[in-house]
Amino acid sequence: MLELKERDGLARICELSTRHGKVTTPALLPVVNPNQLTITPREMRDRFKVDILITNSYIIKTDEKLRERALEGGLHKLLDFDGSIMTDSGTFQSYVYGKVAVGHKEIVEFQRDIGADIGTILDVFSEPGWTEEETRAATEETIRRGEESVPLKGEMLLAGTVQGGIFPELRTGCAERLSKMAFDLHPIGGVVPLLEDYRFSDVADIIIASKKGLDPSRPVHLFGAGHPMVFPFAVLLGCDLFDSASYAKYAREERLMYPTGTKFLRDLHDLACDCPACSSTSVKELLAMSPSERTKRIAEHNLFTSLKELRKVKNAIHEGSIWEMVEMRARAHPALLAVLKVLKRHEDYLQGFEPASRRGAFFYCGPESYDRPSVTMYRERYFSRCRRPGARVLVGFEDGPKPYSRGYASEIARVRAKVDADFLVASFFGPAPIELDEMYPIAQSVIPEHLDREVAEKIRDTMERHAHQHGYPLAVMWEGDQTLEFLEEVAPGPRAADPDLLRVRAVLDMQFGRGAADILDGRKVEFVKSRNTGKIRNVVVDGVHAFSMRAHDGRLTPKIEGARMLMKVLPAHAMRVTVEDEPAEFAAKGNNVFAKFVAECDPDIRPGDSVMVVNTKGELAAVGRALMVRSEMLAFKRGIAVRVKEAAED
Ligand code: GUN
Ligand code: ZN
Repeated sequence: MLELKERDGLARICELSTRHGKVTTPALLPVVNPNQLTITPREMRDRFKVDILITNSYIIKTDEKLRERALEGGLHKLLDFDGSIMTDSGTFQSYVYGKVAVGHKEIVEFQRDIGADIGTILDVFSEPGWTEEETRAATEETIRRGEESVPLKGEMLLAGTVQGGIFPELRTGCAERLSKMAFDLHPIGGVVPLLEDYRFSDVADIIIASKKGLDPSRPVHLFGAGHPMVFPFAVLLGCDLFDSASYAKYAREERLMYPTGTKFLRDLHDLACDCPACSSTSVKELLAMSPSERTKRIAEHNLFTSLKELRKVKNAIHEGSIWEMVEMRARAHPALLAVLKVLKRHEDYLQGFEPASRRGAFFYCGPESYDRPSVTMYRERYFSRCRRPGARVLVGFEDGPKPYSRGYASEIARVRAKVDADFLVASFFGPAPIELDEMYPIAQSVIPEHLDREVAEKIRDTMERHAHQHGYPLAVMWEGDQTLEFLEEVAPGPRAADPDLLRVRAVLDMQFGRGAADILDGRKVEFVKSRNTGKIRNVVVDGVHAFSMRAHDGRLTPKIEGARMLMKVLPAHAMRVTVEDEPAEFAAKGNNVFAKFVAECDPDIRPGDSVMVVNTKGELAAVGRALMVRSEMLAFKRGIAVRVKEAAED
């Protein structure tokens, strides 16, 4: 069973429960070959803090001594490991040697009988070079074997491998059908030859096609991916588990793994690593060791390095910087750079999981940053949700110091005193009305002053699109005093509207949908501001505290009264999470909403959005922050779907 703890888009930190404890994902499962213990399971536990590993049940079953010991004392005793153990089935041996001497039911029963925490079906390895017809036939066979394996799993968790070669429809279809069966986890298989050839963009396509069909509440394992180069992008796309035999295989070839690539020991001048294995050794000393000692030391380095990279990935998820990490790592190898092109192609899908805001700022890492979902989502929401604030003239500024309303404070004040004008910045993210300048990601972003030409051109294109539809009778770019002189002649009369009111109206529409700001029409609106920063803190409507504004991302948190106002103007389902009536009563008393109680959810809700929790009659129970999107709320059996902030009965 999987519980979502933290996330950034599809990337997630979860807790996976097995009979031998809880595992925090993303996790790397070191491969243990019981015949060749480069690093022992006990060392993995004690020195590497590994709490889950993977071994091969086929190797154990076909070796008489190992088989007897495993059946008698159990797998954990055999390996001397008290953490969680996953077993593979012999599929990979079948791929390498052409066939295996074991049946698909027999090997699942064997895994169950030796006490594996997670077992794997004997799927058919779909090779990247196969035709669509060959791949389809093999995938059907995998599905058939899956169907026959599930009833045999007993207490063991069972992994149903997604196959389908390089054909996205086959991958998605296979994933959908396996998701309907009682599997506990889904590896993505058949990718080892692609990984070996650095065809990372094909792997990315395969992960996405598989994720599209998978039940989001089940962990996803990328079979055979053990190089740290792969972790950041695979986690970004929603992979939770990896396994590595590479740490030992590479060590036998005297190759050291780094997050940016692999180096032969003989080519290294310095190990340039401070992992426990390297900190007490030099290249010279390594070369002087006996081969087995050297292999062990390099294997240790490889495992430490891989585990460390996953820890960094987890930090990035916590910080909200996984996109930055992927874009930075992409500079290490053209094959990783190619992955960014794949991400751009799937931007629509990725946007469905894009958080409403992040803890950390948006960092520009290169022209590809322009294609991140946070950028496209801003533009889409701007064009579909924002309305013209109402002046006769629009004055545009080039990008400048942030927040823009301060950076351009004196220009704005001078124009406002004499001209009926609104203001907008041609920002990296798209048209940024001055009213949205404190909202994520506009203010919370670090963009270089001089942009790559292709990005500058795209920004110009967006502004051109804007010019065709903004609806102002007159729009000008600010070019100094001459602009003011010109405007005084053609559009005299000061801007009377209250900038604070304009800000709250713009944020309401942008955050909750076009029309949300109508709740303020004809009402008396007052503001409580921070004494230190002068920023809006609370919005008081007709004497009632209706919204608070968060300082760090400029978004509004509705109080119960604010939510009631929104529900009157928004469409029936919008920004609502419907829960069954009894849990709704709990939410109304301030308890969080668990995913298993969610009956429906607006598909436009993104993680981090402020949402209304309602019962099946549509009555407001609470206001909270969504931690999941619709498909996840409906799939997860464990964990919080909405963190309740305001309760109706408080
Ligand atoms: N190990 C590496 N690739 C695979 C795969 O596709 N299936 C299984 N079961 N194990 C693997
Ligand atoms: Zn090292």
